[in-house]
Amino acid sequence: MKIAIASDHAGFEYKKELIEYIKSKGHQILDFGTYSNEPVDYPDFAFPAAESVAALVADYGVIICGTGIGMSIVANKVSGIRAALCVNEEYAKLARHHNNANVLCLGARMTTIALAEKIIDVFFEEDFDGDRHMIRIEKIHNLTGI
Ligand code: RB5
Repeated sequence: MKIAIASDHAGFEYKKELIEYIKSKGHQILDFGTYSNEPVDYPDFAFPAAESVAALVADYGVIICGTGIGMSIVANKVSGIRAALCVNEEYAKLARHHNNANVLCLGARMTTIALAEKIIDVFFEEDFDGDRHMIRIEKIHNLTGI
């Protein structure tokens, strides 16, 4: 799969480690930055990464800031994006099964790399349940006019 990845400065080192992990699983990376520890503003990185998922250039997004909260707020502004902040594997499983989440948000200051790798594995492997959950997703899309 093609994975769009982005972080702010708080997630920069973390992003580097996760890029290597995701590549080791055979996926292709589209890196939307940031590219150093220099302080930056997370909307500048979350938004283009989320747009690439919405445009189907990438299959999934993985976006990282200190908590994952700022990245999730920004990504969910993009039509067609269902960004989920996941703090453990169960969150990742349900984000896929119930919410058909297409962007995974991680908090570099909150979640160890070892746990983030497990969360990523689950997020990439699990599928959407559809049925009643599809009705709910359609209602979300109707709210934003897409
Ligand atoms: C940066 O200090 C921090 O505010 C940011 O990474 C993120 O946690 C915001 O939600």
